[in-house]
Amino acid sequence: MNAKREYWIAPSILAADLARLGEEVRRALAAGADIVHFDVMDNHYVPNLTFGPPLCAALRKHGVTAPLDVHLMVKPVDRIIPDFAEAGASYISFHPEASEHIDRSLRLIRDSGCRAGLVFNPATPLDVLRHEIEQVDLVLLMSVNPGFGGQKFIPATYEKLREARKLIDDSGRDIRLEVDGGVGVDNIAEAARAGADTFVAGSAIFGAAQKSDPNDYDSVIAAMRGQLARA
Ligand code: DX5
Ligand code: ZN
Repeated sequence: MNAKREYWIAPSILAADLARLGEEVRRALAAGADIVHFDVMDNHYVPNLTFGPPLCAALRKHGVTAPLDVHLMVKPVDRIIPDFAEAGASYISFHPEASEHIDRSLRLIRDSGCRAGLVFNPATPLDVLRHEIEQVDLVLLMSVNPGFGGQKFIPATYEKLREARKLIDDSGRDIRLEVDGGVGVDNIAEAARAGADTFVAGSAIFGAAQKSDPNDYDSVIAAMRGQLARA
């Protein structure tokens, strides 16, 4: 593990209280979160439906200045990319299965002024990454099947994280390695040891906080930081 790597915690707003979203995001950031993970689902590529560019723009208007990490689970992807860029996205990631022309979609994201990410489902090999690593700023490994929060972490992800970490390090490029799904205090350190540097957590952050003290995100995020410090 490279001791110099900076860890980012990325709360997924999928698990937030959407009726109080601006406040939820501000509190998570105040508690030490680094970037805001934004799950976009279309009831086509995945069997669930969430939110689009207007909500992204609303967070910016609300005063959120932290990076917005837009995870597209939509098909096709190209039509909606410029809209998210316009709405204030920082990173835009998509699943290779959802684009007919992966290189074109990656270039479109960068040409729109955002950083580009590729997302790999549990059964999707990393082959595309080998060919497209020059066009990528973020690699997101799904540790659950996409579509829903609150699922259980798939342990085979650790091995895949090691594989992705090696590809990234061998490339010498500055690429974030993000893990998404079922991440919490109990497994974040192992994910870090396997090579992840960016950790999406939905229910672990928002779910836990809502069940106990709705104002307290500090204890969950502090516990995650504590685990990472020992990773
Ligand atoms: C699943 C989403 C995840 C999800 C993670 O399709 O990509 O970002 O919100 O939620 P938890 O942390 O609850 O597994
Ligand atoms: Zn996600």
